[in-house]
Amino acid sequence: MSIDYRAEIKRLKEKLPVTVVGHFYQRDEVFEMADIIGDSLELARKCKTDSNPWVVFCGVGFMGQSVKVIAPEKRVLMPKVACCAMARMIDSSYFDDSVQYMVDRGVPKENILPITYINSDATVKAKVGEMGGMVCTSSNAYKIIEKGLESGKKILFVPDRCLGQNFANSMGLKSCIIGEGECDPKEADIICFNGFCSVHQLFTLDDIEFYRNRYPDIKIAVHPECDPEIVNASDFAGSTSQLIKYVAELDPNQKVAVGTEYNLVNRMRPNGNTFVLSSTKPECPTMNETTLEDLYLTLKSIEDEKPINEIVVDPHTVKYANLALERMLAIN
Ligand code: 13P
Ligand code: SF4
Repeated sequence: MSIDYRAEIKRLKEKLPVTVVGHFYQRDEVFEMADIIGDSLELARKCKTDSNPWVVFCGVGFMGQSVKVIAPEKRVLMPKVACCAMARMIDSSYFDDSVQYMVDRGVPKENILPITYINSDATVKAKVGEMGGMVCTSSNAYKIIEKGLESGKKILFVPDRCLGQNFANSMGLKSCIIGEGECDPKEADIICFNGFCSVHQLFTLDDIEFYRNRYPDIKIAVHPECDPEIVNASDFAGSTSQLIKYVAELDPNQKVAVGTEYNLVNRMRPNGNTFVLSSTKPECPTMNETTLEDLYLTLKSIEDEKPINEIVVDPHTVKYANLALERMLAIN
């Protein structure tokens, strides 16, 4: 007999002290089951204040880890421990190498303030926390970097070179990328690690030109993980929640092409005026790994008292990653 996953998930959610969390990039059928939705910042904030002892997080690894770090007393399970490809580009040894790169070029370690995008492993956040640094998300990077600059130190921004450059550009600051061309940390304000999101690399100037030629009044809205040349050619850049708000506030007849993950953009276009800014389908492979069956099995494992895919972070990492995350939350 086949299982009605939707009905079973609803039954388990009613029975168990559990909160199901879903990022906007999740498949529709999984996203619909979530009690808490939002961009990375909102998810971190809402999970911290949520009262249930169990969290089932439908998203990518760093998101579940972040909940465990800011609320270590909670039991956090992930239906798929899927890893964000960008977060995988840096580990703590690459982080140390980046600090060393700056030291070797004349910036003493005590003059470096690291800021990590939330899309990073907890061990990288811990390194950042130990050095007095902070986490940021796509919705608060401007505020966090501005605060970081008050220290008078050089900002080491990891792992997303695009986010780092986009915010440097919008603030009129000089940035450079370690390992790309001449990157003199003494000359730049923000020194970026060379990481990126392969999904957001899919949006091109040709895509923007295509839509602008076809609909001269169209608006282009993108996520700041896109390349600076894409952000510069767009009308708006913002986090997933900020993109949703931007599109919702447009006149219903206003055409808009959105450059971010497919599941989210597809949900935004009931009236035919919202387009995916790409000739391909920009799906995040790891976000798409989680299925309704995975969610059901994870909730069932709590009912059976044999929890699966539990997120475990060692105490040292929790302590220092927590410092970096809490510094961010305090600024917000
Ligand atoms: P948001 O914080 O904007 O939701 O972004 C998360 C992400 O992974 C974008 O690719
Ligand atoms: Fe990571 Fe990119 Fe997927 Fe976002 S879209 S979770 S940055 S791989």
